[in-house]
Amino acid sequence: MSVIVNDPSDLDKMRAACRDAAKVLDYLTPFVKPGVTTGELDRLTVEYITDVLNVKSATIGYAPPGYPPFPGAICTSINHQICHGIPGDKVLKNGDIINLDVTIIKDGWFGDTSRMYYVGEPSIQARRLTETTYECMWLGIQQVKPGKTLGDIGHAIQTHAHDQGFSVVREYCGHGIGQKFHQDPQVLHYGRPGTGEELKAGMIFTIEPMINAGRRDIRQLNDGWTIVTRDRSLSAQWEHSILVTPTGYEVLTISDEMPAPPAGVSLKT
Ligand code: MF3
Ligand code: CO
Ligand code: CO
Repeated sequence: MSVIVNDPSDLDKMRAACRDAAKVLDYLTPFVKPGVTTGELDRLTVEYITDVLNVKSATIGYAPPGYPPFPGAICTSINHQICHGIPGDKVLKNGDIINLDVTIIKDGWFGDTSRMYYVGEPSIQARRLTETTYECMWLGIQQVKPGKTLGDIGHAIQTHAHDQGFSVVREYCGHGIGQKFHQDPQVLHYGRPGTGEELKAGMIFTIEPMINAGRRDIRQLNDGWTIVTRDRSLSAQWEHSILVTPTGYEVLTISDEMPAPPAGVSLKT
């Protein structure tokens, strides 16, 4: 069952948490360059959320059943890594693409967002995959409106990814979020129109498509967290936390320096 949040002061707390998460990604942007380690990006994140934002990391020590505690304040997923990459001594090099995924807790509310970054100059394929994945996320967001269904979101994402010759990861999905990190509903990034749970005003969930340049199959590394493409093809992901409003959607994880939505697409409808 999906949680409904209607109380205006609760919604304001959720907005504030989500905006702080987005600020972390703004803050990290200038540091994502050849030569930096993912561990340094994590250290900068801890410093920023502690000293500037005064909020808590939702991921440090996060240990769902069957997982070891996650050590970082961000997930750093490079090239063929799909998600949940653990920050460490890995040095970024020119041409890498990397997803930085941050979740923070402010006032008991969780904000979760991720972006792709180019390290120096990306290959044509890396750029096309990254841009297509961004479009997929926004096509999913544009489906959000009371009366539409989760299947409508998944279908919009899947159709665009497949049209571009890419595949959609099925094992991980978007999720309800609010006073918990992960809750119902599961927001699959594939599906059939008109199927699945109907969207209602007050639902809050993430849309976070993971799109692979090659096949959709995944593998988990021995660290217990990092998910990679089985065929070692590139993978990209973008994530926003979204509120279903009476008239459509509101993107919650917004910030001054966030990448703009595609032409003609609003942050709120
Ligand atoms: N932020 C991720 C998500 O979008 C979850 C990361 S859990 C971690 O759901 F432990 F790997 F950090
Ligand atoms: Co998420
Ligand atoms: Co996330």
